Amino acid sequence: MRVALLGCGVVGSEVARLIVENGDDLAARVGRPLELAGIAVRRKRERPGLPVDPDLFTTDATGLVSRDDIDLVVEVIGGIEPARSLILAAMKNGASVVSANKALLAEDGATLFAAAQEHGVDLYYEAAVAGAIPILRPLRESLVGDQVQRVLGIVNGTTNFILSSMDETGAGFAEALDEATALGYAEADPTADVEGFDAAAKAAILASLAFHTRVPLGAVHREGITEVTAADVASAKAMGHVVKLLAIAELVDGAVAVRVHPAMIPREHPLASVRDAFNAVFVQSAAAGQLMFYGRGAGGAPTASAVLGDLVAVARHRTGGGLGPGESSYADLPVRPMGDT
Ligand code: HSE
Repeated sequence: MRVALLGCGVVGSEVARLIVENGDDLAARVGRPLELAGIAVRRKRERPGLPVDPDLFTTDATGLVSRDDIDLVVEVIGGIEPARSLILAAMKNGASVVSANKALLAEDGATLFAAAQEHGVDLYYEAAVAGAIPILRPLRESLVGDQVQRVLGIVNGTTNFILSSMDETGAGFAEALDEATALGYAEADPTADVEGFDAAAKAAILASLAFHTRVPLGAVHREGITEVTAADVASAKAMGHVVKLLAIAELVDGAVAVRVHPAMIPREHPLASVRDAFNAVFVQSAAAGQLMFYGRGAGGAPTASAVLGDLVAVARHRTGGGLGPGESSYADLPVRPMGDT
């Protein structure tokens, strides 16, 4: 199974590291060797500490996805173009795709799904929403027999860090944003986070899977947190509430309604305890009742974990001989008898 990686930034470098360092384990789980065959980057440079053969790097992403020996392309460059053209070229060439690109999936998922179907390849994107948290596969698979009624998510780590900081310290928005930037949570340009664009893209993806329909990004009502003041947070606190940027998808009169906006939630609600840059998704469904998924929604290693999970899933599917979900997929680890601590 030969893998091409598009992008080697915060997430891509962790994906490369995990493929190289865990190669034997991954091969055992997939059922055949899994090899990193090339990495497309914008600029070639030294990457000290990354255990990857320097010859794998190329600035020719189009050339990489056109190679005949590539079975699977992992796209972690983000944004609409050139990501979309590269993914479409890879699929046309017969490669399956794992992507972490929420903006592209939300904006033009339909084109990608149609291309995957046309060319008979897989498209997995668990890392596009809430980083390490497994939420897309549970919605698509585990809960597919149930009727989801409502999804409430804290799906942007940067804004959750800012709002948590305002709640804890009484700081204003600008001060809390500076702190988030200094700690490396917020991007140099934090617009997509603080204006709710990032959360809106994730909300569209969540809603599409939860309600088995296609929710276009333009149908998501969006409001960010830039207008939230220290006084708003303080008065919410005085009333026993906390302010969170929520992505909400629910059925209203038989139609799917999706919105992202700051909301006051009672401190006893499970989502109120989600602090710092963590994410959580709360799902209410008819038979299962209430479920909560919680964890790290951003960062290199957590997001790479979700990418690698998709990579193994695609590889198993493509291999055909991969081990099924009920089988123990792993070799000869000793098992301690019960009571032996
Ligand atoms: N900027 C995003 C966040 C990264 O803060 O959650 C993960 O999508």
